[in-house]
Amino acid sequence: MDYTIRQMEPRDLVDVVRLSNQAFLETARHTWKMGQRFADRMRKSRDALFIAEAGDARVVGFAIGQCDGSRASLSWIAVHPDHAGKGIGGMLLGALEDRARDKGISFVETGTPFARSFYEKKGYRCVGVRTSLLKELAGAAIPLPCGARVRPVMLDDLSTTLGLIGDEDEWLRFIHAHSTAVERDPDLSVLVESDAGNRGLLGVAVGRKNTTCEELIALSYMHALDGSNALDVLNALAYLCSCRGHRWLGVSLPLRGVDEKALRACGWQDATLPFYCTSYSMQKRL
Ligand SMILES: CC(C)(COP(=O)(O)OP(=O)(O)OC[C@H]1O[C@@H](n2cnc3c(N)ncnc32)[C@H](O)[C@@H]1OP(=O)(O)O)[C@@H](O)C(=O)NCCC(=O)NCCS
Repeated sequence: MDYTIRQMEPRDLVDVVRLSNQAFLETARHTWKMGQRFADRMRKSRDALFIAEAGDARVVGFAIGQCDGSRASLSWIAVHPDHAGKGIGGMLLGALEDRARDKGISFVETGTPFARSFYEKKGYRCVGVRTSLLKELAGAAIPLPCGARVRPVMLDDLSTTLGLIGDEDEWLRFIHAHSTAVERDPDLSVLVESDAGNRGLLGVAVGRKNTTCEELIALSYMHALDGSNALDVLNALAYLCSCRGHRWLGVSLPLRGVDEKALRACGWQDATLPFYCTSYSMQKRL
């Protein structure tokens, strides 16, 4: 069968959403979230948006990228499973690269969880890995670390935390993460205190519901006053999340004060959810 590549038009959007639901496993449950993202991108610019069409004019693949200043980037690429392995992905990627060259851009980048070797075959090299780990909380006994207590941060706690965290920039990062999280789930920004008489603060941690999967809470900020308590602070958040009935807690490494081996030793595993997993940064010079 012959395939042609052409620029994406608004009329293609429904086919593109349908195809992405079939190619990207998990997003199939969130049809219109993808529709919203694709429509937003199309409203900005159609320049680097491509469709692969079969001889009968059916949409069998798409690529959504952008050419911005001196860089081009690819956000999504997918080929219908019935037409995979026939060179269509390579043709779509080639179309984006040609568009970049036309604009005098000599650099393309993308991030991928699952298709690293597809890009490597097309001349991209991996320049960074973002490792994500998950702890499954459902059906497991998640203990509160010994000597610790955990509770949601209250408004009045915020000024106290400035004194305890000390560094103003660090505190502003905490306030940003806290304010973003409490909009959606006020219980997920927590103080971890020592259970001892003086109840000193061990640290703060903030989790946020993943926008694609509400069963996943992703750590968005953590600060332990003493680095040696970092794992306890994280595990205290895991305990609270398990009590609240959340299924997974996720972290992206590196995490200050927390050793990857120590995490794995207490049950953290590679994240392989399509919407939360280890991702590879890929780049190609044209
Ligand atoms: C990745 C994808 C777009 C590739 O499309 P395709 O049309 O099958 O790719 P091509 O036929 O051009 O394949 C080119 C090469 O990459 C390899 N390849 C294709 N998909 C691959 C994948 N998911 N992982 C690793 N290698 C892959 C092919 O085996 C082929 O190798 P070969 O030349 O040695 O035979 C397609 O598999 C897809 O839609 N996957 C689901 C969505 C996805 O994962 N998108 C990318 C992540 S953001």
